[in-house]
Amino acid sequence: MATFRSLLLSGLLASTTKAQAFDAGVRGEDAFSYVQPLNTTILGPYGHSPAVLPSPNTTGSGGWEEAFAKAQNFVSQLTLEEKADMVTGQPGPCVGNIVAIPRLGFGGLCLQDGPLSIRVADYASVFSAGVSAASTWDKNVLYERGLAMGKEFKAKGAHIALSPVAGPLGRSAYSGRNWEGFSPDPYLTGVAMEKTIRGHQDAGVQATAKHYIGNEQETQRNPTYDRNGTVTDVIQEAISSNIDDRTMHELYLWPFANAVHAKCASFMCAYQRLNGSYACENSKALNGILKEELGFQGYVMSDWGGTHSGVASIEGGLDMNMPGGLGPYGTVPEAGSFFGGNVTLAVNNGTVDVSRVDDMILRIMTPYFWLGQDQDFPSVDPSSADLNTFSPKSTWVREWNLTGERSRDVRGDHGEMIRRHGAEATILLKNERNALPLKAPKSIAVFGNDAGDDVMGFYNQGDFEYGTLVAGGGSGTGRLTYLVSPLAAINARAKEDNTLVQQWLNNTLIANSNITDLWIPETPDACLVFLKTWAEEAADRQHLDVDWNGNEVVESVAKFCNNTIVVTHSSGINTLPFADHPNVTAILAAHYPGQESGNSIVDVLYGDVNPSGKLPYTIAFNGSDYNAPPTTAVNTTGVYDWQSWFDEKLEIDYRYFDAHNISVRYEFGFGLSYSTFELSDAKAEPLAYGIISKPEDLPILPGGNPALWESVYNVTVSVANKGDVDGATVPQLYVTFPDSTPAGTPPRQLRGFEKVFLAAGESQTVGFELMRRDLSYWDVVSQEWLIPAGEFVLSVGFSSRDLKEVVKITPVEA
Ligand SMILES: *[C@@H]1O[C@H](CO)[C@@H](O)[C@H](O)[C@H]1NC(C)=O
Ligand SMILES: *[C@@H]1O[C@H](CO)[C@@H](O)[C@H](O)[C@H]1NC(C)=O
Ligand SMILES: *[C@@H]1O[C@H](CO)[C@@H](O)[C@H](O)[C@H]1NC(C)=O
Ligand SMILES: *[C@@H]1O[C@H](CO)[C@@H](O)[C@H](O)[C@H]1NC(C)=O
Ligand SMILES: *[C@@H]1O[C@H](CO)[C@@H](O)[C@H](O)[C@H]1NC(C)=O
Ligand SMILES: *[C@@H]1O[C@H](CO)[C@@H](O)[C@H](O)[C@H]1NC(C)=O
Ligand SMILES: *[C@@H]1O[C@H](CO)[C@@H](O)[C@H](O)[C@H]1NC(C)=O
Ligand SMILES: *[C@@H]1O[C@H](CO)[C@@H](O)[C@H](O)[C@H]1NC(C)=O
Ligand SMILES: *[C@@H]1O[C@H](CO)[C@@H](O)[C@H](O)[C@H]1NC(C)=O
Ligand SMILES: *[C@@H]1O[C@H](CO)[C@@H](O)[C@H](O)[C@H]1NC(C)=O
Ligand SMILES: *[C@@H]1O[C@H](CO)[C@@H](O)[C@H](O)[C@H]1NC(C)=O
Ligand SMILES: *[C@@H]1O[C@H](CO)[C@@H](O)[C@H](O)[C@H]1NC(C)=O
Repeated sequence: MATFRSLLLSGLLASTTKAQAFDAGVRGEDAFSYVQPLNTTILGPYGHSPAVLPSPNTTGSGGWEEAFAKAQNFVSQLTLEEKADMVTGQPGPCVGNIVAIPRLGFGGLCLQDGPLSIRVADYASVFSAGVSAASTWDKNVLYERGLAMGKEFKAKGAHIALSPVAGPLGRSAYSGRNWEGFSPDPYLTGVAMEKTIRGHQDAGVQATAKHYIGNEQETQRNPTYDRNGTVTDVIQEAISSNIDDRTMHELYLWPFANAVHAKCASFMCAYQRLNGSYACENSKALNGILKEELGFQGYVMSDWGGTHSGVASIEGGLDMNMPGGLGPYGTVPEAGSFFGGNVTLAVNNGTVDVSRVDDMILRIMTPYFWLGQDQDFPSVDPSSADLNTFSPKSTWVREWNLTGERSRDVRGDHGEMIRRHGAEATILLKNERNALPLKAPKSIAVFGNDAGDDVMGFYNQGDFEYGTLVAGGGSGTGRLTYLVSPLAAINARAKEDNTLVQQWLNNTLIANSNITDLWIPETPDACLVFLKTWAEEAADRQHLDVDWNGNEVVESVAKFCNNTIVVTHSSGINTLPFADHPNVTAILAAHYPGQESGNSIVDVLYGDVNPSGKLPYTIAFNGSDYNAPPTTAVNTTGVYDWQSWFDEKLEIDYRYFDAHNISVRYEFGFGLSYSTFELSDAKAEPLAYGIISKPEDLPILPGGNPALWESVYNVTVSVANKGDVDGATVPQLYVTFPDSTPAGTPPRQLRGFEKVFLAAGESQTVGFELMRRDLSYWDVVSQEWLIPAGEFVLSVGFSSRDLKEVVKITPVEA
């Protein structure tokens, strides 16, 4: 947000020239085809978006009918000016605000960041980041986290949580925002979205699935503006993510379909362009795919400043402009709005039918009534207004009622849960010579600048040198109320065994020293090295190593310490070049675990928690092994020249490595335990008979054709804990499609997982219910999900490359 603020202060204003160009353009035509006529020689077979108009009306189908009727009653009482207010953000106490209409007993809407915490708040918890939650592979953890977060948002008076994230999905290992979301696997992310959304909404808060869609890099996510202090114009438009139809459906849309299926109240459209036109005015994506095909009944809000037109966006399917003003990030209300007064004008001059504006508000108010937000909803905590750097009080133009209780403590007993979630998310990647768990060591040494206390304040927005990292930066960060550092937790735990603890936290010193000169003559029993990797929105990662000379720190310690245990607190993928070092006996990827970080890692290091986290992505040997890097530069100066061609299609992360038989350091789904597990007796039982390729043509419900969500097979497998330690493991089901499936289908795709806790010696039967969608590919010709004819191979294992059991099924004969 510091970046947003400095942009605001530097006086950059929006491009009205461009806005008018878009607006003047089109009714009945997609903005893209207006600004840049289709030329398939330039664009190739995709990279353009057909216009899909008009915008479908909500009907409240799928269980919102009663709330829909209340919303209709509400809309019928609004004046045109009030209607314009209802769809346009205003500066105010929250990160996004819709003004109150006291006449109708409507108190307004408060929208707050973000995906791991209520960011603009005091006395709120910092939960684990999305990447950590995904690493648990635990549906209960995902739900419980979503519910606890939802309770805090509500108690602070936020109607809408800007969470969770399925875009970026994680096409590129380098994308700066991957940690806010879950995993580059659409199935895992889909389950995580559904559980998180149900958690948020069961707490009475509206969830926001974001950033829809194709937001797979940060570089050039917004246009480049002319930086002349007086004139502002677009020099180059934002990057265009150019995605073909099949890839769109099978990868990037997949988890968003889960979000709609979970009755997510709102969607946030992304900053960048999609197949040529801005995601927030792309009628194919918003009207065609989201509202028609997936049957989404809620509303689409823009990312902050992601609106680039008025009429074209309204017709294209955007329902709410956030934060409402003009300027980069929409921060300058006095400059007007693409919506606001322009909505009134557009209705009055006949350009936009008032029924479209009514539909926008019905979409906004139906989930509001459905969640009972009209009944005794807590007031906005006035402290939020003081902490809100996005729209500070000096920018407010409307009155806000801030008479509620100030600085409410909403944390409850969530710290205990966050500690547990952090431990469950920790992935044990290497554990040799019984390095872990620690067994009452006589002496340990702690190394690395990630071990100690945060020295830069509890609302951090930079890759500071000294202190442990528990979250990344930008709108997805959190404001800590306390932080348990690894060093503090280790010191507390070490007292129990009278363990001597020495510490060196200066990476430069460690990397450049003979370690034996640093410690007491006797070599420590264990050397714990804590390293970190920063990431934030608006910037992509430069490399996949740990920061602050982390690799050199490990080399230096391991040269002299034959029991070097490395812990990373990272935004995502690190290639870990030291992984084969014989003295590096253990490696733990702990990602961003939230406020209890130290306790979470100590629980695992000492074996109070048996590690059960699994990689939600692939760790390759080198950064250059990953395909699909971000587009970091263009050599030409044309306005539309920033393009990102998703030519790898379905082959991202393990789908790519598997398709090309590339060996990797640690594969997707991998993670060790202090126990050993076995799988046996896999079977597949059909749950439906007379299965045909094409789904029954049922009326669309939220999530799309309900036939796609019907279970067609139950695959069962017996899991046994053969070790002598209690613990959890995650059997995973991968599907290999028949040969009749169109070319480009990845060799194996995750389609089921279940976390099971087993006492030593115990075993249990686990079932994976395969839905029709799980066995289908998107057929671009018929525009249907089809089950291909022939034999499927279903493999169950403990990772994507540790497959133990195979069953074959033929749902549709060739
Ligand atoms: C399309 O672009 C190509 C390459 O720039 C150009 O040669 C061709 O004339 C263009 N076609 C049209 C119809 O503009
Ligand atoms: C939406 O409903 C209005 C009536 O409120 C109707 O005039 C309009 O045609 C409908 N739009 C669509 C796309 O069905
Ligand atoms: C920048 O502004 C100055 C006057 O304020 C004007 O003379 C100049 O042409 C502008 N430059 C651009 C690139 O618009
Ligand atoms: C309408 O939109 C234009 C940009 O297209 C903007 O310059 C103008 O200020 C807006 N008007 C209002 C009333 O917000
Ligand atoms: C109607 O108003 C809208 C919003 O200000 C504007 O974009 C559009 O150009 C106007 N159309 C006409 C025909 O005046
Ligand atoms: C202001 O909010 C308080 C609750 O915080 C409420 O009791 C009061 O009615 C509100 N006042 C107005 C004018 O909406
Ligand atoms: C860290 O160590 C380096 C090398 O010894 C030294 O130059 C630097 O001042 C140290 N930093 C701090 C904060 O002590
Ligand atoms: C490190 O220090 C020890 C003890 O002083 C010494 O024996 C050893 O040779 C040194 N190693 C290096 C690489 O300097
Ligand atoms: C491993 O550590 C021992 C000291 O315990 C040291 O002698 C040896 O050289 C180290 N191995 C490597 C490869 O650095
Ligand atoms: C490290 O070296 C010491 C001394 O040679 C030995 O006793 C110990 O078992 C070694 N530790 C590991 C983990 O190999
Ligand atoms: C830009 O130019 C450089 C140097 O000629 C070249 O290496 C690079 O591939 C070009 N990049 C793109 C995106 O065309
Ligand atoms: C699938 O199998 C599991 C494990 O046996 C069982 O608990 C579950 O009820 C089964 N589901 C269906 C739909 O039969």
